[in-house]
Amino acid sequence: MARFDSKICIVTGGARGIGEKTAEMFVEQGGKVVIGDNNEELGSAVADTIGADARFFKMDVADPASCQAAVDFTVSEFGGVDYVVNSAIAMAPGALKDLSPEDWNKVISIGLTGTFLMSQAAGRWMIDQGRKGSIVNLSSIGGITPYGMSGAYSTVKAAVIMLSKHLGIEWAAKGIRVNAIMPGHTETPLTSYLQDPEIKKGRSEVTPLQRVGQPVDIANAILFLLSDEADYITSTGLLIDGGLAASVMNHLPGRKWD
Ligand SMILES: NC(=O)c1ccc[n+]([C@@H]2O[C@H](COP(=O)([O-])OP(=O)(O)OC[C@H]3O[C@@H](n4cnc5c(N)ncnc54)[C@H](O)[C@@H]3O)[C@@H](O)[C@H]2O)c1
Repeated sequence: MARFDSKICIVTGGARGIGEKTAEMFVEQGGKVVIGDNNEELGSAVADTIGADARFFKMDVADPASCQAAVDFTVSEFGGVDYVVNSAIAMAPGALKDLSPEDWNKVISIGLTGTFLMSQAAGRWMIDQGRKGSIVNLSSIGGITPYGMSGAYSTVKAAVIMLSKHLGIEWAAKGIRVNAIMPGHTETPLTSYLQDPEIKKGRSEVTPLQRVGQPVDIANAILFLLSDEADYITSTGLLIDGGLAASVMNHLPGRKWD
């Protein structure tokens, strides 16, 4: 029996990057997946590539009706919802001093409100059905350390950690676990600057595990937190950054231990 036999997962932002890798591996391990994304071209191509156990659903996570429709679609296609992975994001880089209210609201509405709305729609369905479940929300290393020129993003990612804790506690007695993942720099279309060999080399050198992250590194942890192996884990966050955040003192001149 495969790890996710008879399990059904919605992955928002599943058209590329970490969400895409998670959707692909979830189906490889026996599950059925709905890729919820606003990029129809990419999302339907990914679902086609994964095969018969994947569907694409065009959605906007910032819209409550769209999140509810994603749940309804998943139930009608596959018969239920066991898991949600909230990976959708949009960024608005820039100094907070110059950030427009529109850009601020865009990052908040997709990264934070979208995570809330999608979790709420799926969680309500699970509670109504008396069905256990697990939700994994993508936070970031930026949610625990300010991330230069991304103040709205870091603020959202810090809030996603707290939202995950709250939902986990509210829904624990219902058998629904909610956790956050905090990736460090991970090579995806969002971080296209990592394609620059100099940047990638420099970042690898300052990362204790000597490389930047790959989507599979993050997907492995997401799948663990979804699975029954994590049955006693809720309301927590897992930092997956090759040791980067913990190594800050090593980067100060005069402080070397190796
Ligand atoms: N890549 C990294 O280095 C890194 C580091 C830390 C955290 N993260 C987090 O991991 C998650 C995935 O990151 P990624 O690098 O794979 O991102 P990505 O940009 O490659 O993918 C994000 C996906 O979200 C979709 N999306 C955007 N707005 C949407 C909306 N309104 N409704 C539905 N879908 C929408 C996009 O179309 C895209 O497919 C994000 O939450 C990100 O903040 C990534």
